[in-house]
Amino acid sequence: MGKATVVVGCAVAVAVGLAAAVVVRRRMKKEGKWGKAMGILKEFEEKCATPVAKLKQVADAMTVEMHAGLASEGKSPIWVFYLQHSDEEGVYYALDLGGTNFRVLRVQLGGKGVGLVNQEFTEASIPPNLMTGTSDALFEYIAAELAKFVAQEGPEYKLPPGRQRELGFTFSFPVMQTSITSGTLLRWTKGFSIDDVVGQDVVAQLSKAMQKLGLDMCVSALVNDTVGTLAGGRYNNKDVVAAVILGTGSNAAYVERAQAIPKWHGPSKSGDMVINMEWGNFRSSHLPLTDYDHAMDAEGLNPGDQIYEKMISGMYLGEIIRRVLLRMAVETAIFGDTVPPKLKEPFVLRTPDTSAMHHDASSDLKVVDNKLKEVLEISNTSLRVRKIIVELCNIVATRGARLAAAGILGVLKKMGRDTLKDGDQQKTVIAMDGGLYEHYTEFSKCLENTLEELLGEDVFKSIVIEHANDGSGIGAALLAASHSKYLEDQS
Ligand code: BGC
Repeated sequence: MGKATVVVGCAVAVAVGLAAAVVVRRRMKKEGKWGKAMGILKEFEEKCATPVAKLKQVADAMTVEMHAGLASEGKSPIWVFYLQHSDEEGVYYALDLGGTNFRVLRVQLGGKGVGLVNQEFTEASIPPNLMTGTSDALFEYIAAELAKFVAQEGPEYKLPPGRQRELGFTFSFPVMQTSITSGTLLRWTKGFSIDDVVGQDVVAQLSKAMQKLGLDMCVSALVNDTVGTLAGGRYNNKDVVAAVILGTGSNAAYVERAQAIPKWHGPSKSGDMVINMEWGNFRSSHLPLTDYDHAMDAEGLNPGDQIYEKMISGMYLGEIIRRVLLRMAVETAIFGDTVPPKLKEPFVLRTPDTSAMHHDASSDLKVVDNKLKEVLEISNTSLRVRKIIVELCNIVATRGARLAAAGILGVLKKMGRDTLKDGDQQKTVIAMDGGLYEHYTEFSKCLENTLEELLGEDVFKSIVIEHANDGSGIGAALLAASHSKYLEDQS
């Protein structure tokens, strides 16, 4: 080999060596970033852990809160009268306001032994600007939709002559109920924020709007969706003793003996009351809160409120995942050198999207890939990045579902239904509603498995979770019927 060849050979060797070094350095850097991303994931997973011992502490804290709430005035839970009749007759309406959609329902009750004869409903969405606008704008919009629906009432619905139409108003926000037909809004939840309703009687606001439109209808019952679900469930099955909503927001209601409520001084004909727990506002030092939860709470519309709801309900699961992904994007560039702008938008990642990603059974995680493109405008992700995303969905859904199961255990404890008494064959039926429970299979499966883990196999067999499809609308109409002003006239 000549001198020149040797020199060239050396130069090539040096160049190859340098290029290899660059590749190795890049790979190390990439691996370093990757390691960091995995570190963020691992840390998040650890902070979200919900071992059985912790869940039991959460359940106990929930039971303690329930006792405190029954004793002290001005504190949730909030009472309402219990459904006493099941033989009402006539046409009744229900209006269900509790999220971005609201429903209006019409039922014809056939009287003793006949039950529900006809029912119809319509659904409309609330324009986003009305969720943060004024009281008049919101209630007038709702009253107008209600009026349209009433105008379509067919001849099969029979309103006895001389009677005004009656409405069960399901208003699914925290209300201090002052009677069956009045209650003041304590605070908004689920993305609503209309200052001039807070502290006002919501029935008065709706009635004013109905009057303005000349809609001849009165509110006979103001109910929460949990209470409506419980009443609707109990109409069909007497073993229903509690209702849980797992949807955009979350809450539970259960049947309590009137004597067990120190702050209740009024009469109770049946001896039973329905307690609307407003469990979404529960908080405890045992809740596994992470920095992401704290930041979401602090930057949201209602900081400091609804802490439990923010860990378990549909409005928030996607947002928690978005926050973890954003941190990974900023600190570890998992989506490349620029942080995807969409990822910076609060609440852009909705729980139905994360649910779809979590349930992606394809080997190359095609659904995840599509959702990333469609919702976050991120393309060209590697399979391992997509796997991280599925893992994040799993962590957040598992924490939420297990904590929801702990809440149910707390309620069962308060009702003395967390153990079996000798020879006890009694079933405890929980009416369950809400899109999160209905559509997020991994979530509902995990909730039920966790409940079994907490209760043990035998007690778990005595618990039935019954999916109540729109139980709250029918329940509200039934409550309107059982609290009809015409019944009071007769008694
Ligand atoms: C509200 C409750 C409601 C629950 C489920 C919560 O945000 O405070 O009143 O029952 O959502 O809709």
